[in-house]
Amino acid sequence: MISGQPDQSVLPERPARAKKHTIPLTNDMSELKKNRTSRDRMGSVSTDLDEHTGGGLGRGDGEGQMMATAGEGEGGGASSSLKESQKVNLEELREENMGLRKRLKELESQVEDLRLKYSMALAQKDRQLEQKDFDKLTFSSILCDPNQQDCPIILVSSGFCDLTGYSPWEVIGVNCRFLQCEDSDMNVIGQIKQYINRIVNEPTVHLCDDLVVKILNQRKDKRRFWNLLHISPLMIGQRIYLIGVQADVTHLDVDPNNQDHRDKVRQVVKKIFEMGEVHSELCI
Ligand SMILES: Cc1cc2nc3c(=O)[nH]c(=O)nc-3n(C[C@H](O)[C@H](O)[C@H](O)COP(=O)(O)O)c2cc1C
Repeated sequence: MISGQPDQSVLPERPARAKKHTIPLTNDMSELKKNRTSRDRMGSVSTDLDEHTGGGLGRGDGEGQMMATAGEGEGGGASSSLKESQKVNLEELREENMGLRKRLKELESQVEDLRLKYSMALAQKDRQLEQKDFDKLTFSSILCDPNQQDCPIILVSSGFCDLTGYSPWEVIGVNCRFLQCEDSDMNVIGQIKQYINRIVNEPTVHLCDDLVVKILNQRKDKRRFWNLLHISPLMIGQRIYLIGVQADVTHLDVDPNNQDHRDKVRQVVKKIFEMGEVHSELCI
């Protein structure tokens, strides 16, 4: 016996190597991989798949084939249970996908809602004018007599002459529509007309029943301006008159349809009435 060579007869018999069976699963595996990839993208862990594949798929093992050390009969069973599990996974993924799509739609509509609310809030903020914005305005005034034909001006303030460029003798005895131009809003003119008719024709006049409008007017020199006009009735003895208060609001975004703006205009007019400015300023 040559030294160093083990004596085969005394060595324990080597156990027979387990027979390797190759189960070709080309299509199934690529389907499995697809599942894994889409699921992993969603941040989910495919532990159920790993159980079947020995966790090797994600690392590139067993490309196109799965090597299983199993008996002949067991190979078919593993394949069908794998298919079953794939079906379940696909179904779960579909449901998850549908759920996510639904949630996405909900979130999108919520975002749209918020966007709308935000832009409305911005628009509202822009329209909020401070009382001081109105206090800063220069008001002028005129007194008209609705008892006379065509409701002429009978008194004007110096402020009205400054605003319009006309002298008192040019406007007294004339209806104030001479301030209007071809671009003056006919609806607003109609509103004024209706208001005057209501005041004149109502047996009991509501002295607090006023009108606030904004109308495009033009001065004697043809320069146009936005006139914020407040009209209210005034009782002198038993006769009713109409007092008009005007302000140039060309550079102020006043909206007479906005309740808040109307209230602020009323406050200023009330203040100047209380101070007697309108009455003392009026002249023939
Ligand atoms: C007191 C008073 C003040 C008025 N001030 C103005 C004014 O500053 N600017 C204007 O365009 N119209 C003003 N108007 C309206 C016109 O005089 C007229 O009433 C209006 O044009 C509607 O009538 P009409 O359709 O016959 O023109 C005022 C009316 C009254 C009674």
